[in-house]
Amino acid sequence: MKKTRIVVIGAGAVGSTTAYTLLLRNRADELVLIDANHQKAVGDALDMNHGMPFIGGGKLWAGTYEDCKEADIIVIAAGAAQKEGESRIDLLKRNVSILDDIVSEVLKHNEHGILLIASNPVDIMSYFTWKKSDWPVQRVIGSGTLLDSARFRYLIGKHLNIDPRSVHAHIVGEHGDSELPVWSLANVAGTELDIAEEAKADIFANTRDAAYQIISAKGATYYAIALALDRICTAILRDEGAVLNVSTLLDDYHGISDVFLGVPCIVDRQGVREVLKLDLSAEEKELLQRSADKLKGLIGSIAI
Ligand code: 2OP
Repeated sequence: MKKTRIVVIGAGAVGSTTAYTLLLRNRADELVLIDANHQKAVGDALDMNHGMPFIGGGKLWAGTYEDCKEADIIVIAAGAAQKEGESRIDLLKRNVSILDDIVSEVLKHNEHGILLIASNPVDIMSYFTWKKSDWPVQRVIGSGTLLDSARFRYLIGKHLNIDPRSVHAHIVGEHGDSELPVWSLANVAGTELDIAEEAKADIFANTRDAAYQIISAKGATYYAIALALDRICTAILRDEGAVLNVSTLLDDYHGISDVFLGVPCIVDRQGVREVLKLDLSAEEKELLQRSADKLKGLIGSIAI
């Protein structure tokens, strides 16, 4: 049987934590770490391989772009990360040029895999990668608002003292400051949430600003995004058809087209199999439109 392989490009905090998470969860037969600073990838691979006697199973190594050839999934987590006081959008120009080089290298060796983008600003980076790759859009996926939705469900669950896995609630739009909560459809077992408006505002503010809080406390975020990326890899490799709020190309989504945004998508072995149209309230549609307009304006500012 063909071995499954995930390549993680970028051995910074997000990339190496993602590789470690994939390793702990036995997600693929082969894991490859690639970084412009090869020594960092070598060090991470050694460090993780020394844990093999406690885990068993697959293989992990610090590789080169040639290793992308056999990859089922290529996770791109390279590039500059937000520093305190920066928004994700502040990374735009730096990361477009870094991704430009990375995607060129990947394309030399792989034309069948799935590109999973985590570099910020993730929606624009995903759009850029899709355009550059010229791959079917199903196979270029951004981590989108999956992490934001997880933060949202965690905070709602904490407020209600209910397991976050039983909270169904979505953050859609930009993975960033213009994202929005879909309160109109949030539920537990189909029942409306009993949360006061003030608490709702707090929950959303803490969701939207979570990365700022974490970056101010410890400089970077990486554990939860690593789990979100693992979740997407699982849905792909197990052909799950899981509904995940990833970033994908919208085509007349409440009138919005030609931009990548986080919305609920069915994810399976093909990548994004289908985009689900949420029955948004008028206010939510308006906010989503604003989020799309913001990103489109920024896309217009870079050469794609
Ligand atoms: C996060 O939301 C910084 O985008 C990263 O954790």
